[in-house]
Amino acid sequence: MNITIRQVSINDLDEVTRVEATCFPNAEAATRESFEQRIKTFPESFFIAELNGKIIGFINGCITNETVIYDELYKDASLHIPNGDYQTIFGIDVMPDYRNQGIAAQLMNYMIKFSSNSGRKGVILTCKDRLIHYYEKFGYVNKGISKSVHGGAQWYDMILKF
Ligand SMILES: CC(C)(COP(=O)(O)OP(=O)(O)OC[C@H]1O[C@@H](n2cnc3c(N)ncnc32)[C@H](O)[C@@H]1OP(=O)(O)O)[C@@H](O)C(=O)NCCC(=O)NCCS
Repeated sequence: MNITIRQVSINDLDEVTRVEATCFPNAEAATRESFEQRIKTFPESFFIAELNGKIIGFINGCITNETVIYDELYKDASLHIPNGDYQTIFGIDVMPDYRNQGIAAQLMNYMIKFSSNSGRKGVILTCKDRLIHYYEKFGYVNKGISKSVHGGAQWYDMILKF
């Protein structure tokens, strides 16, 4: 599928919030306020997938010197360290009608290349057990159960070192 991947803009705020609410349960979905803070703080590592001008997915995360994601990072965009060592993935979303066509993979590969070109040491994320195998395909290694209790779920720490 011939999608365009581009950096987010503040004009995307409502649509990004809507996509997130479609892709995640209420307890896990980031709020409009949270996205506003993220777009203002780290637009350079927030990418939109567009098809014919329509937002069908996105990937985003701040930068940190830690090797695992901790819950405060999600809530406090000021913890973003622009020149830090590790790119985080806070979320990757693809609208249901467009899934299983490699769009998340395109977004992930774009983020990995961007992070590598930006001089990071790697990329980190947390995921549920059912997606561990998916992220392993990109080279992520499972570090085990995360301390994160985000949304009341159990998460695994994954790291991709360059
Ligand atoms: C996970 C998600 C981003 C994948 O998007 P996508 O564009 O369909 O991904 P791709 O086409 O690159 O790859 C699909 C792969 O994901 C796997 N997958 C997606 N959802 C899955 C689930 N709930 N359980 C198990 N595997 C799943 C598919 O089995 C497929 O694996 P395969 O390549 O081995 O066949 C999308 O399903 C989504 O937005 N889900 C809701 C939000 C979410 O859970 N995000 C990830 C956590 S941050």
